[in-house]
Amino acid sequence: MSIRFDDRVAIVTGAGGGLGRHYALELARRGARVVVNDLGGDRSGQGGSDAAQAVVEEIRAAGGEAIANGASVTDVAAMEEMVARAREAWGGVHILINNAGVLRDRTFAKMTPEDFAFVVDVHLIGSANATKACWETFREQHYGRVLMTASSSGLFGNFGQANYGAAKLGVVGLARTLHLEGARYGIRVNTIAPVAGTRMTEELFPAEAFAAFAPEKVAPAALFLVSEDAPSNQIVGAGAGVFQASQITLTPGVLLEGEALSPEGVAAHWSAITDRTEEIVPESGAAQAMLIGARLTRG
Ligand code: NAI
Repeated sequence: MSIRFDDRVAIVTGAGGGLGRHYALELARRGARVVVNDLGGDRSGQGGSDAAQAVVEEIRAAGGEAIANGASVTDVAAMEEMVARAREAWGGVHILINNAGVLRDRTFAKMTPEDFAFVVDVHLIGSANATKACWETFREQHYGRVLMTASSSGLFGNFGQANYGAAKLGVVGLARTLHLEGARYGIRVNTIAPVAGTRMTEELFPAEAFAAFAPEKVAPAALFLVSEDAPSNQIVGAGAGVFQASQITLTPGVLLEGEALSPEGVAAHWSAITDRTEEIVPESGAAQAMLIGARLTRG
């Protein structure tokens, strides 16, 4: 059965280029009315342009419906205004893809506090701002789909990206809690960790790989994760047509008592503490305390 978005209104942040543009085009092609948000700056977040308007024109030329929004995701009032305009035009908002992003790479030793804060502001606070602006609408409608954009740099670390990595794992924490709070309102929240040839990664990929990692090869996961039958609370890797699932896990652990309840005891039991044989994928933070409880009973 084909996945359609007729009668759905979608907001895609940072959709003036790269991955966001493809998400917006594909959502519109499958029937969604799309708010194309982008302030149109350069890769480091400086300057501005009418990138969003250009994508809106592409969507309209293909027979779709779209509105441009040139606001920064860091502007709370502008995010509220964006949602209000979408509701006025189309009566609701059903899908939000938090995709806007910037890079200010440097080793932590050389990174300024301003560049750390700026990157966290755009990715993490920006995702919270845009989601917060939609949240009440999603709750009222008893329907919402949110996709956060993480990165392998956040999930696993990457040299020179302390600011970006912190922000990108931050959105995973945001997604996990919103999944729990939104479930009873029909809101599903997922995270994508893409790998794509865009201006963000142009120095990383040789020319041939750039084509193999086209954004079109990530978009199918993004669209599935905001569709009617989307799962929730998932972290999905996507690049070059390969789709992966990432998990945050917990080992059952070891109970240390008496003399073993000491740094030396932790050191002595390190291999048992980190033994992954019976590890679980916790459904919420409470699982850690429950697992500790189970461990105490078991000894
Ligand atoms: P891109 O630079 O082409 O797209 C990011 C877009 O966000 C740009 O159009 C930019 O103008 C917009 N933007 C930046 N700051 C904004 C703000 N404050 N408000 C509104 N829009 C803003 O890069 P790409 O690769 O398409 O990135 C999309 C998302 O995917 C980003 O969140 C990025 O961190 C993430 N990502 C990309 C990877 C890749 O391999 N390309 C890897 C992992 C994550």
